[in-house]
Order: sequence, then structure tokens, then C-alpha cells
Amino acid sequence: MLGTGLIGTFYTMSLHGLRSRDKVVNVFSRSEERVKKFASDYNIAKWSTNMLEVINDPEVDVVVVGLPNNLHKEAIFAACDAGKAVLCTKPLARNADEAWEILQKVRETGVFHGYLEDLVYTPKHLKAHASVENGAIGKVLWVRSREAHPGPHSDWFWTPDISGGGAILDLGCHCIEIGRSFIGKNIRPVEVVCWADTQVKPIAAEDHAIGLVRYANGAIGQFEVSWCFRGGMELKDEVAGVDGSIRMDNFLRTGFEMFSAPGKKGYVAEKAETETGWIFPVGDEVHELGYNDMFADMFNAMENDKKPLEDFYDGYVVNAVMDACYKSAKTKKWEAVELKEWNGLEDVEPLTAFVDYDKDHYLVKEEVLPDGRKKVILKVKTSGEIIQKVTNV
Ligand SMILES: NC(=O)c1ccc[n+]([C@@H]2O[C@H](COP(=O)([O-])OP(=O)(O)OC[C@H]3O[C@@H](n4cnc5c(N)ncnc54)[C@H](O)[C@@H]3O)[C@@H](O)[C@H]2O)c1
Repeated sequence: MLGTGLIGTFYTMSLHGLRSRDKVVNVFSRSEERVKKFASDYNIAKWSTNMLEVINDPEVDVVVVGLPNNLHKEAIFAACDAGKAVLCTKPLARNADEAWEILQKVRETGVFHGYLEDLVYTPKHLKAHASVENGAIGKVLWVRSREAHPGPHSDWFWTPDISGGGAILDLGCHCIEIGRSFIGKNIRPVEVVCWADTQVKPIAAEDHAIGLVRYANGAIGQFEVSWCFRGGMELKDEVAGVDGSIRMDNFLRTGFEMFSAPGKKGYVAEKAETETGWIFPVGDEVHELGYNDMFADMFNAMENDKKPLEDFYDGYVVNAVMDACYKSAKTKKWEAVELKEWNGLEDVEPLTAFVDYDKDHYLVKEEVLPDGRKKVILKVKTSGEIIQKVTNV
């Protein structure tokens, strides 16, 4: 385990689980005091302040990268050189060029690689995704994914040279992959338009952004990210299909609400702003954030010589979409998503699918009005005229 910060903690909690057979055998952190405490808290036999020593430990089969974004490449390269499987947190890199270099390195060295995009493994996402795949809501037209909170917990996130960017890079990477997951990872993201601004915080990066990603079949992925949202951490997704829709709260408002006048005393949930009054704990945070199913998929894939649901190619595509977002935020225009390699479909059918009403008409829609009448809106096939039929008058 490389890193003993917030994500190193969640990952270790998940890996050790209740009675897990997976084990963190060695842990790296730059601070001796912190790494010793971490090893003791999570019953990890070995620790080091030397990253290479941990990676090269013969007992280590898999390197998990939970370090600041500027260190992902260095850590992954070292894991590749040691011939170890490597799992990296999000975002894969600070930009698509760096992600591409990483992708080439894992391919050249032939190591197993997994992209730890936990939010496409949340229990709600997995269930919703399976329903979408089964055709429960028809073809997906629009996905909205929102992650917003009062800002990250460490200095390096706020320094673009280290992090690579602001809220887009930190949170947009999740939302973009959630959109891709529902729309179809074999459908090419073609272009983006994005607004980004530094509304509140005294920083060089954006603290708030909204973007649209247009896919080759006409579907739209919408993301909303903020580092200045007050009240905790929102993780909300909505999916609209031709035949149905889904909406999910993965965090904050999950149906668990507590009022505490004296205060809960201590940690409530990630990015919670208060422990008094109305608070929103999360039942099993590690599970509800997707970490358990994510690591299960990674290790099952590794053991069965398969690709995990998310690998470094996915991380690369997400970085490429984010690069286009940064460009669009500057030019205020739609900008192409530039991919050096596209592994998905080349020709896709547009989403448009006219529904026959009868041999002469297409159905536009039908609706029962407040007075009980039913209206059917139709398009005449020959003339293209839009007409309505009213029944039950
Ligand atoms: N849901 C998620 O998937 C999720 C959530 C949070 C963070 N992350 C990602 O995890 C990574 C780490 O984020 P975090 O929240 O754990 O950060 P953090 O600040 O809590 O921890 C960072 C860790 O890296 C170490 N570190 C910092 N600077 C270093 C340096 N110069 N050299 C060596 N080690 C250094 C720190 O000591 C600490 O162990 C980031 O890439 C972040 O985007 C992912």
C-alpha cells in the first residue's frame, strides 16, 4: 500500500474487511511517525518510508497506488519495473499525455493493471447498471453525475502543479466515468463543452465546473463538480433512457438521517461539515463507496487472467475527456476529445428510434389530461405533419 492518507485508509479497511483473505503486507508513507501508526492500526507487519523497498518486497504481489496525483506515474513505473501488478487510484494521471505514458508502460511490461474508479462499483451503481444492460430503461439518452463537497482535505489537492487541476480533475474523473459506464464504454466520447470557474477559494485551479460530454450515438453525459458546496458530500446520479429513468443518492442523503443536539462526537462521514443538528451518517461507508466490490473485481480478474471492469485504458480515456474540458473552459467552445487510440465501436447507430402508432403514423406521445381526456400526438408519415387525437371526451 503506497500512501497512508484518506484513500490508503479506505483501501486498507476494504482489503482487510471483516474476514478477508487479502492482506496489506507492507505499507509506504513518507512520514515515519504516520506509517508506523498506520501499520499498527491495521496490523500490517512491515512498513517503510522508502517506496521502492515496499514495491520490491518479494512478499508483495500487487502494488496499490494511493499517493498524490503527481506521484502516480513514478509509482506505477516502479511497480512495472518490479514486474508487479498495479492498481491505481483516480485520476490515473494529471493529463492524457501522462496517462498515455503510463498505459504504454504497463503494456510494455505486461503487468496486470486496474483503475480504482470506485464509484462505478457502488452497490447502487452496480444494480442500476445491470438494469440498464437488461433494457429496463431503454437506450440511455442522458446521464447526470454530480459530486460536490466543501473541498479536499490536503494541501496538495489545491496546488495544480501537484494535482494537475481542480474540481474537474479531482471529482470530474468520477462523474465522467459514471456517464461512460451507463452510456456504454464502447461508445466514443466525441466532444465536450465545459464551464469552469474559481468562484470562492483563493486558488489557481477551478473550484466549480459543469460540463457536457457528447457521445458518438448522440447521448449526453453531464457532470457537475464543486469544491465550494456546503453541507457535506453529494454523490448523485441520474440516468434517463427512452423507456425509463433512474435517480440515486450514493452519499449524504441515503435514507439515514440523525438529529443530535449534543453532537455525535467525532467522524460522521467523509466531508461532513457538522456533528450536531441534522447529520447524515452512512451505514457502511467503505462498502457504499464501492471499494469492496472494486477490489473483489480486481482480484477476481487477476486470478482468472481477465481484464477488470476498469483498467488503465479507462483511466486514459477519462484523462482525455478532462483535457478537452479544460480546453473548452478556456475557449468557451465545444472541443474534440483527442484519443490516440480508440478501442470501442467505430460505427454506432443513432439513438433515434421512431415508434409506429399505425401504418400511417408515428407516435410522438400520449397523455391523460386532468379532465380525463386522453390525447395522442402523432406524426403523419407521408406529410410529416404533427396532429393530435383526443379520446374519452
Ligand atoms: N474515491 C476515491 O477513489 C479517492 C478518494 C480520495 C482520494 N483519492 C485519490 O487518492 C490519492 C491520494 O489522495 P488522499 O486523499 O489519500 O490524499 P492524502 O493527502 O490524504 O494522502 C496522501 C498520501 O500520500 C503521501 N504523500 C504526500 N505527498 C507525498 C510526497 N511528496 N512523497 C511521498 N508521499 C507523499 C502522504 O504522506 C499520504 O500518505 C489521490 O490521487 C486522490 O485523487 C481517491
